[in-house]
Amino acid sequence: MSYKANFRVWRGDAAGGELQDFTVEVNEGEVVLDIIHRLQATQASDLAVRWNCKAGKCGSCSAEVNGRPRLLCMTRMSVFAEDEVITVTPMRTFPVIRDLVTDVSFNYTKAREIPAFAPPPELAPGEYRMQQVDVERSQEFRKCIECFLCQNTCHVVRDHEENKEHFAGPRYLMRIAELEMHPLDAGDRREAAQAEHGLGYCNITKCCSEVCPENIHITDNALIPMKERVADKRYDPLVWLGTNLFRR
Ligand code: SF4
Ligand code: F3S
Ligand code: FES
Repeated sequence: MSYKANFRVWRGDAAGGELQDFTVEVNEGEVVLDIIHRLQATQASDLAVRWNCKAGKCGSCSAEVNGRPRLLCMTRMSVFAEDEVITVTPMRTFPVIRDLVTDVSFNYTKAREIPAFAPPPELAPGEYRMQQVDVERSQEFRKCIECFLCQNTCHVVRDHEENKEHFAGPRYLMRIAELEMHPLDAGDRREAAQAEHGLGYCNITKCCSEVCPENIHITDNALIPMKERVADKRYDPLVWLGTNLFRR
């Protein structure tokens, strides 16, 4: 069954833009990305949108639908009423390149700032051994498709451009937590998490976890445990004595 939907799509570039209205056909089983493609094919051939897999796995098609950060290819049209106006806008936290395409290089910069996995120097590749429980813990984090919806949603940077320099965002704080929990990672990531990557800016609002299309428990399983590890280091009386007395 087909019907006509009312779409409002943001059109513009770094200099500015506005919402443009469209009436467009919708067929059973379609997702928002199908409708954007139909607009390109029939009414707005220069409408810019980034996508690759149309299967929720490449993380390219992130945008905001009625103000909620979502993957366009995984948002079924059936979740909206037929007479609802559906507004599609680019991710708000990142600079617009054109229409629905944003410049997400902030995230690549943050990724590069995290030192890589550092196995113990005395072990050669092939000699690494881990408990299954440790493998499973990081497997949840490895489901990340780098859609950056969590980075887009976190209020620390969404409304505060000035925080971007000092805050890695939930996706990369999760990466630090993954490495910190890795039994074969020789580094101590706790000081850097707090001092360089802005873990303290996170006040565990959990908005990042709510929008994650992979349902990763970013806050509960990565950010809070990481905060606990940082607190343990700071307030462990033995660590405190070692740092503050015996170094004198
Ligand atoms: Fe996307 Fe989830 Fe990865 Fe964040 S953690 S980038 S929301 S898949
Ligand atoms: Fe931001 Fe997620 Fe923390 S939304 S404040 S990183 S819990
Ligand atoms: Fe790949 Fe949507 S097109 S996640």
